[in-house]
Amino acid sequence: MEFSTLIWQRCWVRKYKDKPVEREKLEKILDAAKAAPTAVNFQPQRIFVLQSKEARQKLRGCMRFDFGEPLTIIVCYDRRESWKRGYDGKEFGDIDAAIVATHMMLQAQELGLSSVWIGSFDPKKVCEAFALPKDIVPSVILPIGYEAEEGGHGVKNRKELKVEYC
Ligand SMILES: Cc1cc2nc3c(=O)[nH]c(=O)nc-3n(C[C@H](O)[C@H](O)[C@H](O)COP(=O)(O)O)c2cc1C
Repeated sequence: MEFSTLIWQRCWVRKYKDKPVEREKLEKILDAAKAAPTAVNFQPQRIFVLQSKEARQKLRGCMRFDFGEPLTIIVCYDRRESWKRGYDGKEFGDIDAAIVATHMMLQAQELGLSSVWIGSFDPKKVCEAFALPKDIVPSVILPIGYEAEEGGHGVKNRKELKVEYC
């Protein structure tokens, strides 16, 4: 599929079929996470793949969403490894994690899967539930799976792009 078609086709999906994501597809999604650019190529991303009922149950206590997805990926970064900009100390871990998550979303879309980005979760609870080491920061939660027929999905409702040519 053309990239320009793929990016306009992808939209949020908040209800999934009870159908597992195939191993080969998961591997391709993880490969997309590896290919993502990161600041100074430090690659601070840490990926947690949740497929068991127990793991997904734990996650339910950390956020108010439950979309019934068969696969959830938590994208984290290791704050010991992320780049901090010298001029002002700005932390780039979240930006790296966002690029990694975007790569995975788009790869999932190309494989006929859907996803939705979750930013509204309790990071402290995620750290506790999954016993994350203290320097691992959860940044993005990505439910992934096959869209349920009755679920509904996003429509591309975009504002005019504000562009200035200087
Ligand atoms: C940084 C970020 C955080 C988001 N957080 C949530 C969230 O917590 N819960 C949710 O249901 N959707 C969340 N979304 C999904 C957005 O609502 C959705 O991407 C947006 O409405 C655009 O729709 P589209 O994904 O169909 O293009 C988030 C998206 C982004 C990029």
